[in-house]
Amino acid sequence: MAITYHPQTRQFHLQAGEASYIIHLFRARYLAHVYWGKAVRDVRGERRFPRLDRAFSPNPDPSDRTFSLDTLPQEYPAYGNTDFRAPAYHVQLQNGSTVTDLRYKTHRIYKGKPRLNGLPATYVEHENEAETLEIVLEDALSGLEVTLQYTAYEKWNAITRAARFENKGRERLTLLRALSMSVDFPSADYDWIHLPGAWGRERWIERRPLLTGVQAAESRRGASSHQQNPFIALAAKNADEHQGEVYGFSFVYSGNFLAQVEVDQFHTARVSMGINPFDFTWLLQPGESFPTPEVVMVYSDQGLNGMSQTYHELYRTRLARGAFRDRERPILINNWEATYFDFNEEKLVNIAKATAELGIELFVLDDGWFGERDDDRRSLGDWIVNRRKLPNGLDGLAKQVNELGLQFGLWIEPEMVSPNSELYRKHPDWCLHVPNRPRSEGRNQLVLDYSRQDVCDYMIETIANVLASAPITYVKWDMNRHMTEIGSAALPPERQRETAHRYILGLYRVMDEITSRFPHILFESCSGGGGRFDPGMLHYMPQTWTSDNTDAVSRLKIQYGTSLVYPVSAMGAHVSAVPNHQVGRVTPLKTRGHAAMSGNFGYELDITKLTETEKQIIKEQVAFYKEVRRLVQFGTFYRLVSTFAGNEAAWMFVSADRSEALVAYFRVLAEANAPLSYLRLKGLDPNQDYEIEGLGVYGGDELMYAGLAVPPRAGDFFSAMWRLKVIR
Ligand code: GLA
Repeated sequence: MAITYHPQTRQFHLQAGEASYIIHLFRARYLAHVYWGKAVRDVRGERRFPRLDRAFSPNPDPSDRTFSLDTLPQEYPAYGNTDFRAPAYHVQLQNGSTVTDLRYKTHRIYKGKPRLNGLPATYVEHENEAETLEIVLEDALSGLEVTLQYTAYEKWNAITRAARFENKGRERLTLLRALSMSVDFPSADYDWIHLPGAWGRERWIERRPLLTGVQAAESRRGASSHQQNPFIALAAKNADEHQGEVYGFSFVYSGNFLAQVEVDQFHTARVSMGINPFDFTWLLQPGESFPTPEVVMVYSDQGLNGMSQTYHELYRTRLARGAFRDRERPILINNWEATYFDFNEEKLVNIAKATAELGIELFVLDDGWFGERDDDRRSLGDWIVNRRKLPNGLDGLAKQVNELGLQFGLWIEPEMVSPNSELYRKHPDWCLHVPNRPRSEGRNQLVLDYSRQDVCDYMIETIANVLASAPITYVKWDMNRHMTEIGSAALPPERQRETAHRYILGLYRVMDEITSRFPHILFESCSGGGGRFDPGMLHYMPQTWTSDNTDAVSRLKIQYGTSLVYPVSAMGAHVSAVPNHQVGRVTPLKTRGHAAMSGNFGYELDITKLTETEKQIIKEQVAFYKEVRRLVQFGTFYRLVSTFAGNEAAWMFVSADRSEALVAYFRVLAEANAPLSYLRLKGLDPNQDYEIEGLGVYGGDELMYAGLAVPPRAGDFFSAMWRLKVIR
């Protein structure tokens, strides 16, 4: 049994994979957190909470000075009745007060995992894959009920958490803070890891010791953002890529989030995660309910790789959905960096012709095909093909592309409107804005108000018409600015602070509708590259454009960091021209290929401008990728050498039966008379011998324990890919 309740000890024991998570019903009413870590038979909760009279930690029960919520490790802490640490929730009553006291009411354990209404979430395909515990808490005075939902997966060390608020009282409630989870660690002897970044350098890994006070990763941008990612981890001081304890927290949400760790006076650490309470409130009328998005918590005693591999498998197979979830992804060419807005049918067909000869499978038409879109200053919202550029329409172009043996894909940006567009002239109130204030533009565009049902309905039909108008098998769904002046013309004053979350709910509905109406289309999400690389988007669209920065060296960090949480099958990676358009660097085509082949492979350059030699190299890259694609996209991924630590980077992909592997190695700058590197591989079968193409035969044990010698070479940006196959 994955989840049990012991009435004598009043303990819930959740077993997820090889991990235990234990909750104690303290004094029959408070949900105390007992333990989370490597599987144990039991941990006696009461003994973990010694009775101590702590100064300045007040007592809910005046007759007992040894009990304070301030010192009790908890599952969903309240504000206002003796706990001074960050609360998980905060609710205002009609009388203006904000003190509530949630106490245990009842619970339920059942097989499977319920859906989260209107929200993306991990799922099960068979009810035996997981068990769910629901604990209902109530505040008797206000009628507020909160149901904490825990799901423990059988196969993975993964527990998901979410909360549902219900107003069962007779007066209105206002949610001021409604996080998805909170958990208290008995000690703060951890490093905290998060993935900050910026446009063009998303998800760099930062790791530092936890310090007293609050450390947070958050977004107030209306999107999960380039600047932070909805993920944090706590890692034991001795934990590295391959060993040690790590706890991961990943938020299945695409909007404003808060992920924080508070280290308190007693050196305990409280992790909380959820919708960012900043500029958020939610009015809950009697009878209404509010579900929070889900947090996926992963425990690993195999270091960061162990944590990542759990996320990869879970997100690849039980978060992503649709026909492409398990299917090999096509090798594509995208015209963006080849032409930008300056193209016509002839130019595109010429690129497609040159492309088809190289074995590439999909041609993607990027921005600029609609309205009067000759630059980024107009036409978003006017999703009508530009006949000046494409006289035969999308359909005519797509058919020519198809005749060349290529599939046809299309770029759209359905969440935006240009002030210079027919749509905006007709519906100036359809964008996010607040009355009588200027509407700040970003890239000359405004954000459509997806908190409105009419706007979402209109966009669903508009996009559906475009997608039905031509044989389209791939869509790149872009989103190129963050939210300002967040407000909606359709909401009353007391609901204005619901706008940002309602926007995300609207977006999820639109994506759900579009992706289910067009199940044969592969969707890739994008937001100025990887500005919305989050689990929420992955639920609807199984892959994301990792970054607009396609420079091979920059990509080492971006892809390495991204892989902390997200599976390789989710990462779009393209070879682009040199000098690179983002950083001006000139790297060998081979190295660009190796970086891009470490993800969902493609090209983003003008093939017609390449030399015959370059085309030949590309042909070989494409052929090679087709051979290893299943291994790359669906194999087990190991990070070997961190690009954040020095001049080298390495990672590898191993097949499920360990009979095959692919190793990628990069050395950024050459050094004179440099030392040798020994690359210790992972995940191989120690008892088998492997043939490495071009290098000979090695034992799996030798490769893992003694390592593969990588001699220094002249020339910057050296890279290699080695294919390993078991010799039978
Ligand atoms: C964003 C995307 C790019 C490209 C442009 C088009 O920046 O990330 O890949 O599609 O928009 O305007």
